[in-house]
Amino acid sequence: MTHSADHFLDWLRDAHAMELQAISLLRSQIGRIESYPDLKARLQRHLAETEAQEQALKALLDRTPQGSSMLKDITSRLTAAAQGVGTLFSAAEVVKASMTAYTFEHTEIATYRVLIAAADELGDQEARQVFEQIITEEIAMADWLEAHIDTVTRLYLMRDERDLQARR
Ligand SMILES: [Fe+2]
Repeated sequence: MTHSADHFLDWLRDAHAMELQAISLLRSQIGRIESYPDLKARLQRHLAETEAQEQALKALLDRTPQGSSMLKDITSRLTAAAQGVGTLFSAAEVVKASMTAYTFEHTEIATYRVLIAAADELGDQEARQVFEQIITEEIAMADWLEAHIDTVTRLYLMRDERDLQARR
């Protein structure tokens, strides 16, 4: 394999690991949120998108023997790591959860910008199309959070002042 193809596979494997982590993070957040139905519904929708993204990346990795052996190795390593992430964020309240989600989406956007450029350099149209589709969903999720962080924060403060359940 060329150096470029090696880098591409590394970045693709990292993206797949990142989406597995995203699934775990979203599940843990959705499981906790009670008093913020709009946020919960949007995260649920994004969880469904993220599960499809993970499958699409896995299919791309599976196209080559190198990619498919990388896949075996991540799945075992990640199960442990993903469980850790769930626990890490379970203590955070809704404002911190929103900040985490916002940050995570931007990391994802950066990842797919890199992958789109690399796929383009390698002339890999199939992969490029997958990344273009995924980045659209990540940008939409980031935009939604951008537009709603203000409301979530104010609602949190208001509920907390009135001694209503605010954290979740
Ligand atoms: Fe995402």
